[in-house]
Amino acid sequence: MSQNRGSFGSKIGVVLAAAGSAVGLGNVWRFPTEVGNNGGAAFILIYLAAVLFIGIPVMVSEFVIGRSTHANTITAFRKLAPGTWWRIGGIEGVFVAFIIFCYYIVVSGWTLHYAVSSFLNRLSGDQDYKEYFTSFVGSPWEPVLYAVVFMLMVHLVVVRGVESGIEKSAKLMMPLLLLIIGVLVVCSFSMSGFTEGVSFLLQPDFSKVTPTVVLSAVGQAFYSLSLAMGCLCTYASYFGPNTNLMKTAMSVSVIDTSVAVLCGFIIFPAVFSVSGVEPGEGPGLVFITLPHVFNIAFHNVPIIGYLFSALFYVLLMLSALTSAISLHESVTAYVHEEWHLTRKKAASLVTVGCILLGIACSLSMGVWNEYKVCGLCLFDLFDFVSAKIILPLGGIIICLFVGWRLPRKLVYDEVSNKGTLRVRLFGVYLFLVRWVAPLTIAIIFIRELFYT
Ligand code: PHE
Repeated sequence: MSQNRGSFGSKIGVVLAAAGSAVGLGNVWRFPTEVGNNGGAAFILIYLAAVLFIGIPVMVSEFVIGRSTHANTITAFRKLAPGTWWRIGGIEGVFVAFIIFCYYIVVSGWTLHYAVSSFLNRLSGDQDYKEYFTSFVGSPWEPVLYAVVFMLMVHLVVVRGVESGIEKSAKLMMPLLLLIIGVLVVCSFSMSGFTEGVSFLLQPDFSKVTPTVVLSAVGQAFYSLSLAMGCLCTYASYFGPNTNLMKTAMSVSVIDTSVAVLCGFIIFPAVFSVSGVEPGEGPGLVFITLPHVFNIAFHNVPIIGYLFSALFYVLLMLSALTSAISLHESVTAYVHEEWHLTRKKAASLVTVGCILLGIACSLSMGVWNEYKVCGLCLFDLFDFVSAKIILPLGGIIICLFVGWRLPRKLVYDEVSNKGTLRVRLFGVYLFLVRWVAPLTIAIIFIRELFYT
């Protein structure tokens, strides 16, 4: 099967597709919110350490599992440890990708709606943006419609396969996304709150650093790098024999982190240009605070304001799209290979399943809000179960599997491309994967579950 399952055609395609998975709503929306809530630059420094010591080693481990087996995540675990409980690691990856996907497309649908609205100039003027957002999200059909349209865009890419679908779209969308970020950063130089915004980002306030802040930084790194969801493992199964796993993991992390920090450079100068707005505004930041902030910040230059807002929401939507593609692929690869369906049929099945659950998630924030499980609506329940419970467990399994269960020689052969690359840091990598990463994730898991 491995011959006809497709592969990435170029090194740059590999990096852009993996970076596309990593760069998502987590960078544009969640990272600035976390920075705002947790002491600005101090949080960024801790985040960088989390990426370096936990994120990159876990990512390399996922690459090892994927490329050594050339199979979807469930089959990959089974091939490497046949007949053992380790297969749970693979099942977890595909399952959590599916669950996250169902609510990720709901929020992605919102980004599409905001991109369209800002193009139609509906996000301008002095209006109540909170009301605008809540009435949109609470409407029974509008968010559903946008989620479905978004889903169809993802479907069209995944159906075309690895090289002409995923790789081609990443090569198109990622440069566009980086270009938009560049334009927006340059625009934000002209804002009155630029100095204040940038100094908030660059001057660390260590008094705000508590154990919880450290834990949020690690959690954010995990989410932002798309770890433990089978996505990178699946992508790695399409890597060629010459792909340098460590280098790829580093490039992806550098792109992902730079995008997150640059989004801070776009958002904070705008936020500080308007008095009375606090940097840590919670999840409403991009959908409620920012439209309001863009309006006030650019009220003298409406054309620039229009462009800024339209480009920002296109950026948000593109970032969601490239990530959603990887979530879809994680599940589709499994259905395609294990259920012996054609790629087209497998992708269609995943699309329909996700649309149905996605609709339920979307309605759970509006008309179905009274139906709750453990006090949470379906959307929040999916978020809680996946992000707080399954993901950390998956992360631990990946570390233990690669660090302790796989033969050291197999891991070394993968990381060094059968000895053709010199990997000076192999010992350090193995130490991080065996001890530092699983223990840190375990601490976070226990704390998140029992103390929050
Ligand atoms: N990394 C993505 C983000 O930053 C989220 C994501 C997770 C996407 C897992 C795909 C898979 O938004």
